[in-house]
Formats: sequence, structure tokens, C-alpha cells
Amino acid sequence: MTQWHDRVALVTGASSGIGRATALAFAAAGAQVVAADTNEALGEKLIRDIRERGSEGIFIRTDVAHDHEVAKLVDQTVRHFGRIDIAFNNAGIEGEMAATAECTEQNWDRVIAINLKGVWLCMKHELPLMLKQGKGAIVNCASIAGLVGFQSLPAYVASKHGVVGLTRTAALEYAKTGVRINAVCPGVILTPMVERVITANENMRAQLEAGEPVGRLGKPEEIASAVLWLGSDGASFVTGQAIAVDGGWVAQ
Ligand code: NAI
Repeated sequence: MTQWHDRVALVTGASSGIGRATALAFAAAGAQVVAADTNEALGEKLIRDIRERGSEGIFIRTDVAHDHEVAKLVDQTVRHFGRIDIAFNNAGIEGEMAATAECTEQNWDRVIAINLKGVWLCMKHELPLMLKQGKGAIVNCASIAGLVGFQSLPAYVASKHGVVGLTRTAALEYAKTGVRINAVCPGVILTPMVERVITANENMRAQLEAGEPVGRLGKPEEIASAVLWLGSDGASFVTGQAIAVDGGWVAQ
């Protein structure tokens, strides 16, 4: 069991959904939390919630799609807390729903920039620090859409398959350094992202629930607990994995 006290957890996309639940879980476990997101109002609310529970955290406004912003995030984290023990590179968007031939160039570029380039940029700036520390864990947020196809989400599915490939590659590159790199692949989790999809499409909730073998949608806290384990010393022999936390979806 990892003692998270005096450890520093960086979470991107921390203002909402899975990122928020994971940031709160790290704080509850005793870690100091760095929350990054484009949504400042919800990010500051998260920090108030963390402090109310007696833990420490800071919010750094960051758009993960831009190299200089991610560089600044890691820089400010080091100036404030001195290190990063676990990074959860989670920020992502669903983009627009349209079949491959109808997907616009704008949607493609935006989804790939945030979901895939954003994860690469985070690792690009986190890795040198973790290599200097001689220790660290990175968990990238992929999706079951990184393991199987989903109709009408071509850019999203491509971005998440990309995250899985990038995770495996980086894990191999740094396997001997003390830095472990894995991906979590959530199933359908009831967050504002999924609420947007459900609201926009009639019958979608019933369809999604029917697709989940356990018969219900997941909770953000169920992803958070997998991320905490992947980042912990209990997962010391685990690297290069894309772990589905999905109520059995990809077992079908
Ligand atoms: P959400 O929409 O509730 O939260 C996403 C957060 O990312 C928001 O706070 C948003 O402001 C932030 N964000 C968006 N673009 C950003 C950018 N450029 N830079 C920094 N922050 C940015 O969504 P949810 O569901 O919590 O998703 C989190 C991650 O989990 C995403 O990568 C998503 O693809 C992935 N995921 C979610 C699933 C679900 O069913 N909810 C299933 C599988 C994967």
C-alpha cells in the first residue's frame, strides 16, 4: 500500500468528471495535488474542496494542446512542490459525433490536439523530471475507444488508440529508469462528458447501459481507484499496460 503523504500528484482535466474524482482521491489519500485544466472556475472550486478536507492543492490553468502551457505547468509544479510522483494525463474531449466521411477537419484537428498531442506533450515535459528523480509513474487516460471501434467517433477513437500506442512505446523506452507508464481505459462513466452525449441523443443512455455487461454506467470514483493503484508502489511491476475499467465492455 502506497503512502501518498508527501507525494505530489498532477492531474490534467481535473476540473470535472474523472479528473476531479481522481484529484479528490489523491488528496484524500494524503497527496499534494496539482490540478490543471482550461476551466478555471471549476478548477478553483476543486482546490477549495481539497483544502476544506484538510489537504493541499493548487490549480494551474493549462491548455494541454500547447507545448508552452504544458512546459509552464511542469515548471510551476516543480517550483511549488519540487517534484511529480504521479501524473494522470486525463484531459480530453469527445468532439462531435459524425461518421468518418462526415467528420470535419476542424473536429479532427481539435480532438487529436487535445486527446493525443496533449498526452504526448504532458509526457514530454513530465519525463525529464521523473528521470532526474529516478522514479515516477504516469497514467494516461485512454478509453475503451482506445481498444475497440465506436461508430461516429472517428477522431476520438483514433486519438484514444493513439494514446494506447504512445503509452506502450514510452513504457518500453523508459522501462529501466524507474518510471512506469500505463493507460487506463474507462468504460462508459457518468460524467459531464457522457451527460452531454446522453442529452444530445435520445435513447443513448439506455443503449450505453445495455452495452455494459454489469448493467449500469460507471462512476468517476471507480476510475480514480484504478489510477491510484496504477500510480502506487503496489503496481511496481506494471508498465506498458492499457487496463480496461469498463464493467466488462471489451470482454464481449
Ligand atoms: P469531462 O468533460 O467531465 O472532463 C474533462 C475535463 O477536461 C474538463 O474539466 C475540461 O475542461 C478539461 N479539458 C478539456 N480540454 C482541455 C484542454 N485542452 N486542456 C486542459 N483541460 C481540458 O470528461 P470526463 O468524462 O471526465 O473525461 C475525462 C477523460 O476520460 C477524457 O480523456 C475522456 O476521453 C476519458 N474517458 C471518459 C469516458 C466517460 O465515459 N466519461 C470513457 C472513456 C474515457
